[in-house]
Amino acid sequence: MKIINAKNYEELSKQAADIILTQIKINPFSVLGLATGSTPLGTYKELIKSYNEKLVYFKNIKTVNLDEYVGLSPDNPQSYRYFMNHNLFDFLDIKKENTFVPNGCTKNIESEAENYDNIIKNLGGIDLQLLGIGLDGHIGFNEPSNCFFKNTHTVNLTPSTIKANSRFFKNEEEVPKQAVTMGIGAIMQAKKVLLLANGKQKEDILNKALFGNITPKVPASILQLHNNVTVIFCE
Ligand code: PGA
Repeated sequence: MKIINAKNYEELSKQAADIILTQIKINPFSVLGLATGSTPLGTYKELIKSYNEKLVYFKNIKTVNLDEYVGLSPDNPQSYRYFMNHNLFDFLDIKKENTFVPNGCTKNIESEAENYDNIIKNLGGIDLQLLGIGLDGHIGFNEPSNCFFKNTHTVNLTPSTIKANSRFFKNEEEVPKQAVTMGIGAIMQAKKVLLLANGKQKEDILNKALFGNITPKVPASILQLHNNVTVIFCE
């Protein structure tokens, strides 16, 4: 595991974008696993900048996102599909049909979950998976639990996650209580993992995840068993 202590958020974003750009240079047909949240926003801005400077093209890139809220349609500004379109995809030459985000607004969420695993499988798995980390140690929306969930599944969000994410909503009540998330299996099968953690408030959980016991109570701790993880942290 490689751990980089970045000077500040700008450096973290630049270094993360560099790793993604290198991946695209090595393989312009890469499958990128992408994340939402505040942390990757700077990285996405850097990617857009590089695209505008004609340093990179995304026309053959495919993406799979980690998760989506249950009950939010893709045109809901709080949905993760909306987030990805408005913070990244709309500014690149990526083909929208090559970008995948779980559908949280379907009657049959179980078959949607199965379908999502098939999509990842049919793409040949993930070359580089970008991750944030929740204050409770979640990756994607794999919340602390008694076991690691291998496949894409529906999850009840923890009070900590609901509270943390309420900053994007009018109030806590409005935060969906469930999400559909890629499982630990697809994340662990990604060839490379890039975990970003921004801010002093993430330091404690990051230490637990990287140096503590490997336990589903701290889902990110499973990454200790992955053989190609880069972590970028800044206070
Ligand atoms: P954040 O979320 O980037 O908004 O801190 C990270 C996460 O919950 O995975």
